[in-house]
Amino acid sequence: ITPLPFQSVTGRKAFTEADLWGSDAHVLHVGLGHSADLLVIAPCTANTLSKLAHGLADNLLTVTALAAQCPILIAPAMDVGIYSNPATQENVRLLSERKVYFAGPVEGRMASGLTGLGRLVEPAELLGNIRLVLGRAGPLAGRKVVVTAGGTEEPLDPVRVLTNRSSGKQGYAITQAAIDAGATAVLVTAPTCLMPPVGARVIEVHTAQEMLESVLQECPQADALVMAAAVADFRPKRAAQNKLKRRDGIPTIELEAAPDILQAVLKLGTQRPRLVTGFAAESQDLLENAGAKLESKKLDLLVANDISTSDAGFGVDTNRVTILTANAPAESLPLLNKTEVAEILIARIAARLENP
Ligand code: CTP
Repeated sequence: ITPLPFQSVTGRKAFTEADLWGSDAHVLHVGLGHSADLLVIAPCTANTLSKLAHGLADNLLTVTALAAQCPILIAPAMDVGIYSNPATQENVRLLSERKVYFAGPVEGRMASGLTGLGRLVEPAELLGNIRLVLGRAGPLAGRKVVVTAGGTEEPLDPVRVLTNRSSGKQGYAITQAAIDAGATAVLVTAPTCLMPPVGARVIEVHTAQEMLESVLQECPQADALVMAAAVADFRPKRAAQNKLKRRDGIPTIELEAAPDILQAVLKLGTQRPRLVTGFAAESQDLLENAGAKLESKKLDLLVANDISTSDAGFGVDTNRVTILTANAPAESLPLLNKTEVAEILIARIAARLENP
């Protein structure tokens, strides 16, 4: 790869070996190392890894790494035998001890045709690791945030479930925003097609009952709970043991109430997280219905979701929400990306944890 693609994409100069010996040579490596918030070495070869472990500085990259004041994140990429070699493993251990961060490597097929541990992480995972490191001193550092996401699945028989249109996008975005703010994030998720944010502890559940149990288990040590999941209100009273057969005719499905997780959290008393946020998906009388939910569920924050339009709510990437709090005026946000909604919500949560 030539420097040109980097320059074109970033709009910044891409430095090469030639610059180390150029006219600015005596300050370049120090300048780069001092001005960065994070030094990411991706891909990192076994040779560079070894130089970094032993303080060698014979090229622009290694001399910059030695001068760097910022954290270093390494994404190794090498053949399986090279990565597993005791010399490489010892270098990884040495660097980890010095608080150098690692992303990967992962298992997979190598250029050599071999399969094993040594592949470079995928870009999305690398980006997730970068966010994790950059966020670690954020306003939620030292705080535990539990987020629920997705639509629960209530079984009818071994192959069929009763569920809803929730994609999980808003809950996953909130988890990512919490990690960006430095929180220890726990994501209790119903099945979705999404990749969980790097750094989140993920608890996979299916039913409202399973979600309830996980949330109650995580709550006592949590500072904040965000109930973004679309939890079933009703579930089939009985799940058939065997697949319901067409030849047996159309079944009548009797429903019963599913557990109300927020009500159960309310009963935790002193074990309840300091800040509990609920969501309200409403298709009519948004503020009236949401205000009543805030009150009845004794929530600290409520994100009222207008699902009456096709560009907000379930399945789409955008949301139009109003944030309600017990003793402050409602904050109506315009149509935003779910990522932007998540960042605003996490900023409000961080502010309220700071100044209750
Ligand atoms: N919720 C919950 N347990 C349930 C259902 C919902 O904890 N069994 C939570 C949701 O995660 C959300 C909030 O309650 O944060 C409101 O969910 P919503 O479905 O909008 O409200 P309901 O209380 O179910 O009221 P309604 O169906 O009358 O709108």
